[in-house]
Amino acid sequence: MRIAVVGGPGKEGQGLALGWARAGQEVIIGSRVLERAQRAAEGINATVGRRAATGMLNRDAAAAGEVVVLTVPYDAHAETLQDIREAVRGKILVDVTVPVDPEKPRRVRIPPGGSATEEAQALLGSETRVVAAFQNLSHTYLAHEETNACDILVCGDDADARQEVVRLAGLLGLRGLDVGPARNARVVEGLTVLLMEINRRYKVRGAGIRITGIPPG
Ligand SMILES: NC(=O)c1ccc[n+]([C@@H]2O[C@H](COP(=O)([O-])OP(=O)(O)OC[C@H]3O[C@@H](n4cnc5c(N)ncnc54)[C@H](OP(=O)(O)O)[C@@H]3O)[C@@H](O)[C@H]2O)c1
Repeated sequence: MRIAVVGGPGKEGQGLALGWARAGQEVIIGSRVLERAQRAAEGINATVGRRAATGMLNRDAAAAGEVVVLTVPYDAHAETLQDIREAVRGKILVDVTVPVDPEKPRRVRIPPGGSATEEAQALLGSETRVVAAFQNLSHTYLAHEETNACDILVCGDDADARQEVVRLAGLLGLRGLDVGPARNARVVEGLTVLLMEINRRYKVRGAGIRITGIPPG
């Protein structure tokens, strides 16, 4: 699997890319600046000890990836999606964006389109299958290979695409849970703000969620 991560030099993107590289996947780091993408890719290659990552400009990365993961701040969401719109046509776009108030990052922001995920689907059109996932996964978890695994809530309007992203979570050693249509991303994205509040109040870095009541397997 060739996984492109747009906004890949960032904290979350780099963590996810490293996790998939460790799991034997090929990753492409996308950035607005080629040198930044290449530097991030080199860092991953040095960590995993093989040539797992390549750096490209965002649009080229999106074109080269079989699955495209978007990890940019909400303020850059629409602009970045416009940039990669044609390159992701026919693919799965995994949206990790959390719409937060730029002035107060722990304050939830309700996007005009309901959620970042629904806005992405509306902007990209029905030929691209948008799936929300990893919003509740802290980059500190990914960076430090912590063992206290959280669950990954996966939602979007295409059931097969959700299953594919559940599999991507599994590659990171995490349980992905199919939580239904894109509209549910309103809840999933909002939960991240609660986790940030928990991090602050309990003086931890990587609070996550774990769903109980589901038998293993
Ligand atoms: N950090 C976490 O633990 C975490 C957890 C869950 C979800 N998220 C969500 O994941 C997304 C990325 O988070 P992050 O912490 O990785 O953010 P970040 O490090 O601040 O930014 C990620 C990348 O986005 C690109 N970017 C920044 N501003 C941009 C702009 N104005 N236009 C286009 N691209 C821009 C940058 O890449 P280039 O400059 O190289 O293009 C940057 O490296 C956010 O929506 C966040 O809410 C983060």
